[in-house]
Amino acid sequence: MDKLYHLNFGKSDLGDNPPKIAFLSGDPARAAQIAGTFFDKVTCLSEYRGLDSYMGKIGGVPILSTTSGMGAPSLSIMVNELIQLGVETVIRVGTSGSIQPDVKVGDVVITSGSLCVQGAAHDIAPRDYPAHADPFVSVALANSAKEQGKNYHLGITASVDTFYEGQGRVSGANPNLMRSHQGLVDEYQQLNVLNFEMEAGTLFKMASVYGFKAGCVCAIIAERVESENVVMEMKNAAVDSAISVAVGALKYL
Ligand code: URA
Repeated sequence: MDKLYHLNFGKSDLGDNPPKIAFLSGDPARAAQIAGTFFDKVTCLSEYRGLDSYMGKIGGVPILSTTSGMGAPSLSIMVNELIQLGVETVIRVGTSGSIQPDVKVGDVVITSGSLCVQGAAHDIAPRDYPAHADPFVSVALANSAKEQGKNYHLGITASVDTFYEGQGRVSGANPNLMRSHQGLVDEYQQLNVLNFEMEAGTLFKMASVYGFKAGCVCAIIAERVESENVVMEMKNAAVDSAISVAVGALKYL
């Protein structure tokens, strides 16, 4: 038995030509959607703790679609175990809230680097260590988005630990933001940060420390300049776009 504890599968499950590329989604339904829509010869490797994984091929290339779970601590565990299995490239396919008025619901953001305000990342590298995507993966994602005619933006993402306080939301259970979190959307807007999400910064620091390639494409599902709410009616279409940009990037890698 060579199963890794959280992935719940091991090298012996991956065959003679094990996947070197993994798509990583926060939501297990998205991991299943990627595999079900785009993979040939899909195998479900694990359905465990909501951190489900699938293996298949795209254009003959073996590939994984795995779930990170929500937030950087969970992602860090799944990525650590994927790298133990020989994965060399991780592409996060996420959802996100925009900070800039020209980044609209339904657009996709490709992260070139993160403002990484994430506790898990401190266990991996110093706070000031850069959190940047692999430039070749980012260009592959941008080429894919351009080819597919998507509205895409390439730039800086704020990767934070919380959906509410860390993203300056006061409409949840806690209306009392700390002073440092009041006016966060305006502050980040002025710093030309494009969007909020909860995993990429830690993924990028892990990539530089461990020596693998990482990229991130996120579907915009909230416009924080307008509202704190997710636009549920447009979520599926936005997620479909981010997935198709991620899959389309493979041929540029
Ligand atoms: N994910 C986030 O982290 N923030 C949002 O606003 C939407 C999705």
